[in-house]
Amino acid sequence: MSNITHKIPLDTLNTFQVSATAKHFIQIESVEQLLQDYKEIKQYPNRMVLGGGSNCLFVDSFDGLIIYPQLKGIKVIKETPEHIELRVAASENWHQFVQYCLNRDYFGLENLALIPGTVGAAPVQNIGAYGVEVESFITTVDCFDFSTGEQIVLNNEECGFGYRDSIIKRAAQGRYLVTHVSLVLSKKLFPVISYAPLKAHFSNNKNISATQIFDKVVELRQQKLPDPEQLPNAGSFFKNPVVSNQQYKQLLNGFPEIVAYPLEDRRFKLAAGWLIERAGLKGKTFGKVGVHKNQALVLVNYSDNDGKNILRLAETVIKKVFELFAITLEPEVRIFQDSMQ
Ligand code: EPU
Repeated sequence: MSNITHKIPLDTLNTFQVSATAKHFIQIESVEQLLQDYKEIKQYPNRMVLGGGSNCLFVDSFDGLIIYPQLKGIKVIKETPEHIELRVAASENWHQFVQYCLNRDYFGLENLALIPGTVGAAPVQNIGAYGVEVESFITTVDCFDFSTGEQIVLNNEECGFGYRDSIIKRAAQGRYLVTHVSLVLSKKLFPVISYAPLKAHFSNNKNISATQIFDKVVELRQQKLPDPEQLPNAGSFFKNPVVSNQQYKQLLNGFPEIVAYPLEDRRFKLAAGWLIERAGLKGKTFGKVGVHKNQALVLVNYSDNDGKNILRLAETVIKKVFELFAITLEPEVRIFQDSMQ
């Protein structure tokens, strides 16, 4: 009997909490099942892998097959006096995994506390926050490749990590399903407090603990970022745009207070939240959706069922920012709409 079901509501499986239906849906409980069901899954050319649903916007119902892995488990694969390597199944909750590491004095992930979503999604968009990106800890990512039906192991370099980017994200939609992520963590703490609010908070503290960093990160996130359970959202809706040195200098003439971070290649990464705030949109509501009052990079859904209204808001934000700065913001969130399927 087939494990594929039909007409499955996605309302509780996306953190924007918009209404959408998957035309076809399959839950994957194990790699063995994946191997078994692969041929049937391949018959659906339009497919996507859904993790925690914390980085996607369903504008329309999904007219294909949603693959919903439920792979659990954490294993130690290597241990030395200095390090530990863990192999984590993709559907483990990211924040719970960060807590698991903290409880055992495995250090490195404390800056990445409270990021919504699953462990499997972490390498896909190379999650990052407060001066740390997950790529620094990843040794390998195990994927199932639907184009060949084979299990593959990508090493760190093969993942092609970039800012909120990886080869898995760039591949055709629904090609790879991450099954496991292996990470090396340190048994010695190397605190990363380069992010300004952390630096300010810990400046006089010589013996910083991982728990203190974790707690501060949780506090900072709770101050600025709405809890998707209480106010549906998908974190930063846009990426921070990168501009050339020349473009930055031009912007600086018109906007001396623009917030920007120099990159190694002389380009600058601009704070999109600042651009959106400066365009007058922070805290604004548009019907039942809006721009968050504490962090303009986050779009929030007060009570709308229709993802189209969030998309319209995103388009308004892009337009207003372009009119003022001649910069086109790019969504960080994956948008699913009919024309793209
Ligand atoms: N800013 C404003 N107004 C705003 C928001 C931000 O002026 O409404 C300015 C401030 O000067 C602030 C600066 O922008 O100092 C940077 O803001 P913030 O520290 O909140 O970080 P961000 O660049 O807006 C990025 C990530 C977040 C991550 C934080 C902290 C992206 C797209 N977003 O946001 O990640 O938590 O840094 O490291 O890179 C996510 O990806 O979903 C996410 C929340």
